[in-house]
Amino acid sequence: MDWKPDRESKTPIYIQLALYIESGIADGTFPPDNPLPSERGLAKELGINRSTVIAAYAELESNGLIDRNRGSGTTISKDIWGISKKRIPSWNRYIEAGSFLPNLPVTQRIHKEMAEQNLINLASGELSQDLFPMKSLREITSNRSFIGSLGYDHPQGNVILRETLNNHVKKYRNIDANPSSILVTSGAQQALHLVVQCLLKPGDAVAIENPSYHYNLPVFQSAGIKTYYLKGDQDGINPNDISELYKKHRIRMIFLNPIFQNPTGTLMAENRRKKILEISSEYGIPIVEDDPYSLTAFTGEKVETLKSFDTTGNVLYISSLTKIVASGLRIGWIIGPKAVIERLSDAKQQVDFGHASYTQWIANDFLDSTNFESHIKNLVIQLKSRRNQIVNSLQTYLNDKVDFYIPTGGIHIWCRIVQEFNEIQLLEESIKRGIIYVPGSTMGSEKGFVRFTFSREKEEYINEGIRRFADALKAVSNK
Ligand SMILES: Cc1ncc(COP(=O)(O)O)c(C=O)c1O
Repeated sequence: MDWKPDRESKTPIYIQLALYIESGIADGTFPPDNPLPSERGLAKELGINRSTVIAAYAELESNGLIDRNRGSGTTISKDIWGISKKRIPSWNRYIEAGSFLPNLPVTQRIHKEMAEQNLINLASGELSQDLFPMKSLREITSNRSFIGSLGYDHPQGNVILRETLNNHVKKYRNIDANPSSILVTSGAQQALHLVVQCLLKPGDAVAIENPSYHYNLPVFQSAGIKTYYLKGDQDGINPNDISELYKKHRIRMIFLNPIFQNPTGTLMAENRRKKILEISSEYGIPIVEDDPYSLTAFTGEKVETLKSFDTTGNVLYISSLTKIVASGLRIGWIIGPKAVIERLSDAKQQVDFGHASYTQWIANDFLDSTNFESHIKNLVIQLKSRRNQIVNSLQTYLNDKVDFYIPTGGIHIWCRIVQEFNEIQLLEESIKRGIIYVPGSTMGSEKGFVRFTFSREKEEYINEGIRRFADALKAVSNK
């Protein structure tokens, strides 16, 4: 319970506690028919006498706000009519009834820990502050005049930004688009969401990679979509598996992250990328190519996206600035046939009336400046050095205890822990030691993996994080 007694106050502590619970009942923090902690448990948690809790509960009971039953403990009264004269909704029932599903509990736990504690963060799929192009962004915000440009913008996204994105994808990703076939979204995440919501219906079957970022998204389940898995190796998924899935389950869409995949870091072989396009054309199945990472190749080479080979418009191409500029800008985009983009844009307008103009201008000016290219060059050097560090640290502290593939781009490394271990215990032991990562079960069905992200911390912290993780693994093995 998030409450502390005010020992200076003239109000007795049991009244303070009763008032706190009463206000929690009124605002729905403690919903009707929900249990309250035991007297002993609450006294211990709050560091007060058990007799104080008993007195507070007695006060609430006499006001009809709680029920106390031998054996079944203390609960908030089901019917608090008459006392407060206000009916309080049973928020828990609403929370559980919504059709949009929550994140997995372990994912919620990781988000909470990252928000509340200062941990070494090998979990968050983003760049660290020092990798953001702060100088250029500052210059842009101080030089630009925003007057007249802060109204609702075009629902597909600012027209100048779409021109700039059009030039950007041509230059850096070899993609022929045009501004009317681009929709600006709130990150790649919103683009994925819009695709699922607008282009699929409950009962449809789709194929996703296992493990993958898409495996981690409740968005498919919320929409009643059945997901079938495509397993991969170091060269990505096997295209023939798509044909098999199509024949068996009539899959209606394929979601792929072929370049420096999250979480495995693998780059799909070019012949497989081409073969997948052939299969897509043979069966007429659209591909959603999710590509936040293709500009991060450590060799500095340009990696061809599926979309760059797509001559028929079978690929919906999604990308964002999250992994190459700054996650907080929330600038993403989707490219596809005009009719599809207009459908998604209509939906986006219903959701949020179009993207915030401010960050669209900043993104536009940065992408359009000569600083962008040098920023990417520098970013790749930094990411490579962090990749080298994590590989080094894994070899130093966990040499015979982990197996991994060394990624040649991207920001993640996917490790198989050789020994058996309890995933939750390992996470708890790691958090206790001040390091957080993503447990493999949230991203794939196979047991025994963890995902480390090496872009969010500098080298020394990466090293320290892996050292602490090794310590946590040792503690779990000794249990
Ligand atoms: C493959 C992939 N797709 C989409 C996203 C969502 O990113 P954003 O919405 O920040 O662009 C991520 C982020 O981790 C990702 O790894």
